[in-house]
Amino acid sequence: MNGVSYFEVMQRKTVLSVLFFGILVLSLTNACRNDVQTEDKEIIYNQYKEPHRNQLHFSPEANWMNDPNGMVYLNGEYHLFYQYYPDSTIWGPMHWGHAISRDLVNWKNLPIALYPDSLGYIFSGSAVIDKENTAGFGADAMVAIYTYHDMAAEQSGTSNTYQTQAIAYSNDGGRTFTKYEGNPVIANPGLKDFRDPKVIWDDDSNQWVMVFAANNHVKFYGAPNLKDWTHLSDWGYDYGSHDGIWECPDLFKIKVSGTDDYKWVLLQSLNPGAPNGGSGTQYFVGNFDGNAFTLDENFKNEVLDNNALWLDYGADNYAGVTWSNAPIDDDKRLFIGWMSNWQYAQVVPTKKWRSAMTLSRTISLHKEGKTYRMRSKPVSELDDMASSIKNIKPAIQNNDTMVFAGHDLFKLTTEFTRRSACDFEFRFTNNFGEYVSVGFNGEDDVLSIDRTNSGTVDFEKGFGKKHIATSNYKTGDNLKLEIFLDWSSIEVYADDGRLVMTDIFFPQRPFSFIEFHSKSSQNFVKKASVLRYSSIW
Ligand code: FRU
Repeated sequence: MNGVSYFEVMQRKTVLSVLFFGILVLSLTNACRNDVQTEDKEIIYNQYKEPHRNQLHFSPEANWMNDPNGMVYLNGEYHLFYQYYPDSTIWGPMHWGHAISRDLVNWKNLPIALYPDSLGYIFSGSAVIDKENTAGFGADAMVAIYTYHDMAAEQSGTSNTYQTQAIAYSNDGGRTFTKYEGNPVIANPGLKDFRDPKVIWDDDSNQWVMVFAANNHVKFYGAPNLKDWTHLSDWGYDYGSHDGIWECPDLFKIKVSGTDDYKWVLLQSLNPGAPNGGSGTQYFVGNFDGNAFTLDENFKNEVLDNNALWLDYGADNYAGVTWSNAPIDDDKRLFIGWMSNWQYAQVVPTKKWRSAMTLSRTISLHKEGKTYRMRSKPVSELDDMASSIKNIKPAIQNNDTMVFAGHDLFKLTTEFTRRSACDFEFRFTNNFGEYVSVGFNGEDDVLSIDRTNSGTVDFEKGFGKKHIATSNYKTGDNLKLEIFLDWSSIEVYADDGRLVMTDIFFPQRPFSFIEFHSKSSQNFVKKASVLRYSSIW
């Protein structure tokens, strides 16, 4: 991506999208004549029941969405802002869309929170609650910190200084924002990638700390008041994957699970260069001393050995960061990611909107031997959507069998003995013979999601593929999988969330059958049950 401007990248993505969009519009004009004739169908469309509309995940009612932004908790409400273009289903002048939730599962759409202005588009960023009124916007003001991208300046080609950091505040619980008249609060020193500020209050150094991405590293800034920022340090040139551009970092202090120790974690999204192609999020464990970030020594060796450790090994979890001010224990953070990938996000075959978010997840840090691992799991509030559970273990045979039918929104939990002879898959399928499968191959210790035959895949040549991740770090006998299936996405949490894979797909009808296929004559499955969910919409 070096030497290519943000605009050029988007333009390339857009040419593809426009071609695809043109064909789509032609076929839609015909389809629509027959399709949406009755009032009933209109009503159904308005109820978030369109083809491919996820039923357990947040998606905007209409038009383009990318990164989650400004996630912050205040007075019982979890705010989710997001990169939004209200005039099209492809990327364009960025706004901050807005939704709120009381449980991180059920969402209510609110009006757009931030509109582009003469300083530029509103790119990704974060939000904090200024409890001590350090900025003078009022006690408990919600302050959004975001990047301005001045598209006119970029297109004029005269300088590289078109990305700057800015702030806006709300005194009515995020319903309306006022942009600070002193914007931008951080000017651009001449770097064309200079974006995505995440701000935290650091008790130890008694200051606001901002981390943001600058192409191949992150920059740390400090401020007493959210307005007057001083550059503290840079980090990352020498560590992690650099196969793409660094975007959307997050920095937080977290208690190591089951101990009294604290560590600092840096989440760092990268595009392209993820393990299964395109966009992905790596993480680093270390220390932040109020000035600079340093890697934990053992974690550093792992990073040097593996190139990077990834929060999610699937293709569709990008630009995720954690909630600020969340009412949660010190050993946890609440996380959500954009459930798509820049490789094809703008050409996926949804009609009215594009993209959904991942499930809201709790992430935690665990000491594993000498080093550390992040674990993820969906928030427990999701259990409130559960309706009934069915034990399907008795139905599981060694050959190809149908083990469950009749519901298209569920979690499959299974546990099996990990042997080199294991070679099986659970296939989630429909009446059209389309399927997505989750498999395990014991010979190579490989967990996979295969979406090759999952429905419409030809909108992008790299989409219809098998994605893999290894569990070879694991020593124990058993492997547990929790697999969440929605109308157009699958999330696999293996080994209590140490290994996560998230993928999207687009079948003609949601998958509502589960088949078990095994190449071995032995049955390694010890437990298997299906928990049904009802829709959040
Ligand atoms: C990541 C990203 C950010 C940027 C935003 C623009 O997906 O490219 O770096 O702020 O999207 O929409």
